[in-house]
Amino acid sequence: MHCRLPKFVEEKDLVDFNEGEKMLRLYPSALTAWERMRTKALQSAIQMYIISAFRSISRQEEIITAKRAKGIPDEEIFKVSAPPGYSEHHTGRAIDIGTPGSPPLEEAFENTDAFQWLLANASKFGLRLSYPRDNDYGIAYEPWHWFFVG
Ligand code: DAL
Ligand code: ZN
Repeated sequence: MHCRLPKFVEEKDLVDFNEGEKMLRLYPSALTAWERMRTKALQSAIQMYIISAFRSISRQEEIITAKRAKGIPDEEIFKVSAPPGYSEHHTGRAIDIGTPGSPPLEEAFENTDAFQWLLANASKFGLRLSYPRDNDYGIAYEPWHWFFVG
C-alpha cells in the first residue's frame, strides 16, 4: 500500500486517565504537557478536552475494517485514517482535541478560539500540528490532531 506516513511502535509506557466518561491513555510526559496546557488555556477562558489519545495497532485495524465493511474505498479511508502501524496515536503522544460548541473531529475546529489559542501556544508545551492543510503525508487537514514532540 502506498503510504507516506512513518511507521510507529506501539508505546507500552502509558498512564490511564479519565476524560469525561472516557478512560484514555497517554505517554506520561505527554499527559503532563496536556494538563499544563489545558490549565493555561483555561486562564484565557479557552476550554478544551481530549477526544482520542493512545490507540493500539489492533484498534486501528478494527477502525479500518469497519470502514471497509461500510463500503468506503481504501483511497478515501486512508485520507483520514492511518494504516495500522502508521498512526501517531500508537505512540501515546498524539491527541485529538475538542472544544465545546464545535463538532468533534471536523475541519470547523479551525474556526474556534481553541484552535487559534493552540496555534499561538501549543509549541510552548511541546505540541505541534501533525496534519496541516496540504501536508506531505497525503492525510486530510486535521486541525484537531496534535503531537507531543517534547
Ligand atoms: N487520523 C490520523 C491520521 C490517524 O489515523 O492516526
Ligand atoms: Zn488524531
